[in-house]
Order: sequence, then structure tokens, then C-alpha cells
Amino acid sequence: MIVLEQLTKRFPAPDGGDPVTALDGVDLHVRRGSIHGIVGRSGAGKSTLIRCLTGLERPTSGRVEIDGVDIARLDGAALRQARRRIGMVFQHANLLDSRTAAQNIAHPLEIAKADPAHRRQRVAELVDLVGLTGREHNHPAQLSGGQIQRVGIARGLAAEPQVLLCDEPTSALDPSTTRQILDLIRDLRDRLGITVVIITHEMSVVREICDDVTLLVDGRVAQSGSLLEAASDPTKPLAAELIPLPPAPTGIDAVAVDCDYGRSTRVHSAQDIVDIAGTYDAEATIVAGTIETISGVQVGRVQITLRNRDHTAISRPGLERFLDELREADVVATEVTR
Ligand SMILES: Nc1ncnc2c1ncn2[C@@H]1O[C@H](COP(=O)(O)OP(=O)(O)O)[C@@H](O)[C@H]1O
Ligand SMILES: [Mg+2]
Repeated sequence: MIVLEQLTKRFPAPDGGDPVTALDGVDLHVRRGSIHGIVGRSGAGKSTLIRCLTGLERPTSGRVEIDGVDIARLDGAALRQARRRIGMVFQHANLLDSRTAAQNIAHPLEIAKADPAHRRQRVAELVDLVGLTGREHNHPAQLSGGQIQRVGIARGLAAEPQVLLCDEPTSALDPSTTRQILDLIRDLRDRLGITVVIITHEMSVVREICDDVTLLVDGRVAQSGSLLEAASDPTKPLAAELIPLPPAPTGIDAVAVDCDYGRSTRVHSAQDIVDIAGTYDAEATIVAGTIETISGVQVGRVQITLRNRDHTAISRPGLERFLDELREADVVATEVTR
């Protein structure tokens, strides 16, 4: 659906020095109908990537293919037409204050010179689609933050785009409104079959709605894959952000072990680890952890403490055998040294 190939964007330095490389050979594949998150620190190149996708920014080199068309090579009317198939949603919807919700949604259709009958029908559809029925004649000052973002989403969808690009769509919203807007975006993807790219700095957004996730670091792809892969591979940077291990409790007089079991074919829950300990006559206690269910699979990073059933300290060989068994089951098990 969206394919970036060796996308590079350099900006001339303001002081005439070395150019700034905002994107450096980015390869990316966004599956049709997926919700793809792009994460990375400030300055990583996320906005530049989105601007290249919309054709607002021309790459220094590389391809930006949407539905088989390299938009980096289009000009004039062809570029305008390609851009109509791409909807944008921003952190702040920046609605026109003097217009009602419905009139704001109609705005892109007026610019595209859609005929008035079609425009009215399309606006009515969009109002219904984003759940604004009853509010369509309100002005922005009479709408909540969540309703304003619904108008922004409806406006982004007005021209029936196949791709919706969202730049920090929920960063200005409170947690419960964020959840409603994310539910709406997922629902729109399901109903319309659109492909969604979502830029965010919030890992909770990625956990909640993304199918795939890409981490940009200094203009390069540091990690890219399905959410489940990303969450369950503790050797790569995203796992610790998606499934953070809480700080280890102190003062427990037992051996502590960190366990990551997202990739295991045998350990499917923290309880399974407790059960394995039982087969060694040991007692495992879960003392800290983050557990998420991603694509129907439980991914956990938990810390356990281990001792003998009679509460005496576990022997070194006993501990080693337990760790070996966990590792054979593809659990990443690391003894915590204090
Ligand atoms: N128009 C521009 N001119 C010069 N440098 C730019 C321009 N746009 C972005 N940059 C630089 O490119 C890098 C990536 O910026 P940006 O894409 O905005 O990152 P992000 O959105 O991840 O914070 C930064 O170093 C930024 O200063
Ligand atoms: Mg940005």
C-alpha cells in the first residue's frame, strides 16, 4: 500500500554549514488496511516523513509509493489528484471558528468544487460516521475537545481518501477522550478499509490501536514490525517501552529473576512460570510486572522472586536448573543482581 524505498531528505543548514539529514535511507512497508504507528524522539524525522508522504516535501532521493504511484515524482494536477486520496488529521484540528461543524467538514469539498448536492450528502454521511449527529450545527466554541477532533477526522475523510495520516491525533486530549478517538479511528479503518499511519510519542496509543510499529532514530528505521513482535523481543529497543518492567522492589530476601515470556511457545502466562518453579520444589512469587494482551497473545515482563518451599534460600544449582528450563522454553530469564 505504502512503500518507502531508501527515502532520504536533507535540508540545507540555515548557517550555510553541513546539510541536516532528516531522513536517511528509510525503507518502510505499510500494509493495506493496517494501522501503522511511527514513534521516535523529537527530531527523529517523523514530521518530515509524513510531509514526504503527503507530497508537501520532496525527497532528496528515494521513492514514496502510494498504491503503486511514486508521488515524489508527480507535479501539478497529478500531484493534487494524488493528494486528494490522502487524508490528514493533526494534533489540533484548527477549525474555522465562524463555521459550524458541518461547514468545517464541507470545507475541503468546497475547495475541490464538489457539486452542492453531493457535498450535502457527503457531509451528512461524515457527521454520522464520526458520531457527531446532533452537534453538526454547533460552532467550535460549543464543542468539546473530542468533538473538535471528530470534526477534524471527518474533514480528513471528506474526499474519500484511501490513506489517513494522523500526526499526534490525541496528544492534546485527556485519557478517556483519547480512548474514544482511538476507538473511532479503529472503527473507521474496519468500516472503510482505509490504511492509517499514526505518528505518536505515546506508547499507550501504539499499544491500543497499532497493528505494526516503526521506531525512527536519527532519521533511520531502528526497528519495524508487528506490534506483537516488537513487544515480545526484549533484545530490541521497543519492548522495554511497550511493556516496561516496573522498578524492582527492594528488601526481598530471595533471588530475583526478570522474565520476558512473549515469544515463548510454552510459557503463556506468569502463572506458568510459578508452576514450573513448583516442579523444582521451589516457590516463585510474582513481585512486579507489566502484562499486556497483544493480538490475543499475553506478553509479560515480570519479576519473580524464588526460594524453597520451606522459605530457605534456593541452592545455586537449583536456581541454574530453573533458569535453564525457562530459557529452553524461550523465556528471556535474567537473574537480578543487587
Ligand atoms: N524545513 C527544515 N529545514 C531545516 N531543518 C529541518 C526542517 N524540517 C526539519 N528539519 C530538521 O530535520 C530533523 C527532523 O525533524 P522532524 O521531522 O520535524 O522530526 P520530528 O517530527 O520527529 O520531531 C530535525 O533535526 C529538524 O531540525
Ligand atoms: Mg514532529
